Amino acid sequence: QEAHAAEMERTFIAIKPDGVQRGLISEIISRFERKGFKLVAIKIMTPSKEFAQKHYDDLKERPFFNGLCEFLSSGPVIAMVWEGEGVIKYGRKLIGATDPQKSEPGTIRGDLAVVVGRNIIHGSDGPETAKNEINLWFKPQELMAAKPLTTEAIA
Ligand code: PPS
Repeated sequence: QEAHAAEMERTFIAIKPDGVQRGLISEIISRFERKGFKLVAIKIMTPSKEFAQKHYDDLKERPFFNGLCEFLSSGPVIAMVWEGEGVIKYGRKLIGATDPQKSEPGTIRGDLAVVVGRNIIHGSDGPETAKNEINLWFKPQELMAAKPLTTEAIA
């Protein structure tokens, strides 16, 4: 199969139920947009607890696993895929440290959150996780194609 040399890096970002409830959707999206990243998929959904467990599968041994899954499935979540050079790492930088007490002012959590259990946003922590999370949350046809279809491609 032909290699896609120009395939752009993508990451999975979710605004968690607390971020949605607090009315922070546009604030968060705007930070990614202004940086210059490109939104290639977005939807609103309330994940089931089973779905949340799949999403956080690598944390199942942690004491906070159950609470974290309960929380993610407690209300609407904005699931997104963002694209751009370095978006996985830089997206995490925009988000800030996991614990809002340690995240710097200027970051999403630093500016908008106070405690780790309610840290408003999730971002994939590496290329492998990004791929898995995008596949878990989205069907391929829900993602913007890398290039618009040409008439030859449709015919
Ligand atoms: S790790 O594996 O320790 O580095 O974990 P980390 O990447 O910091 O966090 C993984 C996710 O677990 C959430 N988390 C917590 N939730 C509730 N309570 C506590 N104490 C807690 N510690 C970590 C953290 O927010 C991460 O979830 P996401 O959704 O990825 O932010």
